[in-house]
Amino acid sequence: MKDSSPSKGKTNLTNLLIALAILAAMPVTASSEPTTTDREFIEMQTSLNAIMVAAVDWSAHEVWEAGYAETLTGRNWLTVKQYATQLLASGTLVSLGGNGRADRGWVNDPAWQEWTAAMIEETKEALRAIEVKDQERLRESGDRLVESCEGCHAAFKPNIPTEGIMHVPHHGYGDPLARE
Ligand code: HEC
Repeated sequence: MKDSSPSKGKTNLTNLLIALAILAAMPVTASSEPTTTDREFIEMQTSLNAIMVAAVDWSAHEVWEAGYAETLTGRNWLTVKQYATQLLASGTLVSLGGNGRADRGWVNDPAWQEWTAAMIEETKEALRAIEVKDQERLRESGDRLVESCEGCHAAFKPNIPTEGIMHVPHHGYGDPLARE
């Protein structure tokens, strides 16, 4: 018998609404592969401010310097590949945010994720340039990379970092676990 009872219809509608709610809550990704947040993961144990200074800035500078270096030996190419890989991985940390007091608010803003995606995409392009040892391509990629840093900083970065961790001096980051 064809079931067209109102209660069945209601159940279908409820299921549809639940499915839509789940879809709406899912992060937008290019593939349908499971994403990090679909499974258990360990929350970041440090702040975005610390990640910026200790990982993003550090590795990005190596990418820029390689782009403008007079010569690059085989070893130099391997080194810049390591740093670009570090920058690529840091992109996901930037996307997730850490335990800084402002982090959660930032990562929930779609513009934050767009700037982070721009940084990640350009880092991938830098890695492609590194793979074929094309220094000019690496330099051009680095020039575009800085636009993602500056764009996001213009939109989000306070004049004084929220955790007080500055780019200079390179040492004296403070205690990265201070917020425990
Ligand atoms: C998606 C946004 C975003 C992107 C992309 C981004 N940053 Fe940041 N960055 C921030 C925010 C926000 C802060 C301030 C953090 C705080 O105050 O807690 C910051 C802080 C910093 C700091 C330390 C603060 C200071 O004044 O010295 C440095 C250094 C830094 N970023 C470098 C970079 C570099 C280099 C890139 C690009 C390779 C980059 N950032 C990309 C958002 C971003």
